[in-house]
Amino acid sequence: MKNYIKIKDIPDLSETIKEAIFLKMNPLAISSLGKHKTLVMLFFNSSLRTRLSTEKAAKNLGMTVMILNIKDSWSFEFKDGTVMNMNTSEHIKEAAQVISQYADIIAVRAFPTLKDKPKDESEFVLNSFKRYATVPIINMESSIAHPLQALTDAVTISELSEKKTPKVVLSWAPHPKALPQAVANSFVEIMQNLDVDLTITHPKGYELNPEITKHTKISYNQDDALKDADFVYVKNWSSYTNYGKVLSKDSHWMMTKEKLGNAKFMHCLPVRRNVVVEDAVLDSEQSIVIQQANNRTYAAQVVLKNILENL
Ligand code: CP
Repeated sequence: MKNYIKIKDIPDLSETIKEAIFLKMNPLAISSLGKHKTLVMLFFNSSLRTRLSTEKAAKNLGMTVMILNIKDSWSFEFKDGTVMNMNTSEHIKEAAQVISQYADIIAVRAFPTLKDKPKDESEFVLNSFKRYATVPIINMESSIAHPLQALTDAVTISELSEKKTPKVVLSWAPHPKALPQAVANSFVEIMQNLDVDLTITHPKGYELNPEITKHTKISYNQDDALKDADFVYVKNWSSYTNYGKVLSKDSHWMMTKEKLGNAKFMHCLPVRRNVVVEDAVLDSEQSIVIQQANNRTYAAQVVLKNILENL
């Protein structure tokens, strides 16, 4: 693996999942692979899980970790040929090359604007780092993808499934704020590469990018979609077609114990209780969100391991 920007960068998903499960059982099995190597993590946005699990993963491999919250640094310019006489202080051309001298791997979190669709879809922050950095890049959630979360989700379903082909449902949920489509996009993409029966359910107007959903089943009827589900992954996202807009806050889409049936409940976290999902689900044995968050470490560790082996 040279970079981990998108799901397609995983060379062999089934092998990668097996490796992540091995690392979960033996987190320090290759604790010298990253000796004298440095991971620099750059956060343009907040994080709890991604930040701590990726740092833990790197340390399990013996790496040194440096973290920079971009709000504490200079404001970056991303456009070429700009006269920088306004608010930006440092061009990404210099910044990415300078950071590359301190890092063996750079990981970046940069959310979308949710206002300018072409700009978001160009992945301008992540791709600028890829263009100008001289070391591998890891995506810690970009405008349109969250591949570390998706790999975690694939590991979690593989670990806990009691069936060869479990029924997996991605169900939209209400939320007061406009959220990115990144988690949903990457979840759909990785599930399309696993032996699962996937259905997406959401209100009209919340269709994800059809280039991502492709032929995946989509239902506007949540009850129908949830029937006989083994895993229910709940997530809010803002509209893709009416870009970045909150079209519905309909609380009927909140996940309840009754609707969940016998399925296991998944969510990437953070989650708003009694808006996205009721307490009775999160506090039940059917919720696997804590195990899911634990698996973030081993998904990050397997990605770092694969990149380190190719340095
Ligand atoms: N799921 C996830 O990416 O969590 P954080 O935003 O806390 O990193």
